Amino acid sequence: MNARPDYDLDAARARIPILATRIPMNACSQAPQSDPTRAAAEAYLDSWGADVMDWDRWMAEVEAARAEFAALVGGDPADVAVATSVSQATASVASGLDYSGRRYRVVVSGAEFPTVGHVWLAQERFGAEVTHVPVREDGTIPLEDYAAAIDERTAVLSAAHVYYQNGWKQDVRQVAEIAHARGALLYVDAYQSLGTDAFDAPASGADFVASGNLKYLMGIPGIAFVWVRPGVAERLHPALTGWFGRVDPFAFDATRLDWAAGARRLDMGTPPVMETYVARAGMEWLRELGLEAIGTWTGAMAARLIEGGEERGLTVLGPRDAAQRSPSTAFACADSHAVEAALRARGVIASARGPAIRLAPHFYSTPEDVDRALEALAEVLAGQPA
Ligand SMILES: Cc1ncc(COP(=O)(O)O)c(C=O)c1O
Repeated sequence: MNARPDYDLDAARARIPILATRIPMNACSQAPQSDPTRAAAEAYLDSWGADVMDWDRWMAEVEAARAEFAALVGGDPADVAVATSVSQATASVASGLDYSGRRYRVVVSGAEFPTVGHVWLAQERFGAEVTHVPVREDGTIPLEDYAAAIDERTAVLSAAHVYYQNGWKQDVRQVAEIAHARGALLYVDAYQSLGTDAFDAPASGADFVASGNLKYLMGIPGIAFVWVRPGVAERLHPALTGWFGRVDPFAFDATRLDWAAGARRLDMGTPPVMETYVARAGMEWLRELGLEAIGTWTGAMAARLIEGGEERGLTVLGPRDAAQRSPSTAFACADSHAVEAALRARGVIASARGPAIRLAPHFYSTPEDVDRALEALAEVLAGQPA
């Protein structure tokens, strides 16, 4: 394992104040505050305070954040829509598809975060027929299960890049091949993967790649983005829409529903301005550090978690193979919320999800952080009923 990453770890850590006193291991849930993201929030507050409103500057910030997300996924800003949550981004996309023709089926991966599943189910009112592909006992979904579920009646396959429960990462390219072989679109919720490694949306084969910013992208709630493959947006006529989805939002014509070119037709109302300041700062920082270098480092931290966890007799959920893993590592436990609280009392911030406690290191984590978190977890679990 690399002793240090290919960026200045100490300098990066110095910009995250909580690291002086705690070990945040919950990047799968909420990133810690950092100097750059705090400064970005303050820049908005200062602008609001000084100018009351400065829409030219604020809209320029929204566009800069859109461009930053585009750069993060290797795409073009014209192919990125700004949303307020992954739920809203997914709902906008889903409401833009037509389920009245021969492609009315929606196939949904069992590895979706529930909100994405809910959005697809809500399309049944409009003629969609939803089929779920369950996660198998080993915590994964083999490609053949998708292949068996998709047919020429399928409009879209929805498959999260990383399973939020156990950190299993699927190969988007292979999943896309299966969807496209039958003419279906592929919707990918990449919330649990973006920011942990380099990701190239155009090369991935996905038709949509959505994410919010408060996890590994170092941001806050209230903003999300969705990249749409060039040429695909024009097939969408979202019922969930608003004035920012128009050709000219400032035409102020309530009698005309025209669709902006490209992904912008998925924009809705007044954009989340303060959140875009913060989102941009977080994404820009990650890009400066280098996503490949972050990927190498978070991979090493995850491997250390798995190895160290097993050495301490802890039960790791999901696959072991590094290529199939995000940094988030789930350990089985009976009462994950009690474990989260007990870890917090020991200075380790973890994330409870159902029957597991998740430890999610990021670019700022050290091997010592990982070892201390594992020690604390082993101690807490030793005192818990099995
Ligand atoms: C993979 C994934 N998708 C979506 C969400 C939630 O998205 P939002 O609250 O932005 O709708 C989460 C977690 O909060 C998640 O882990």
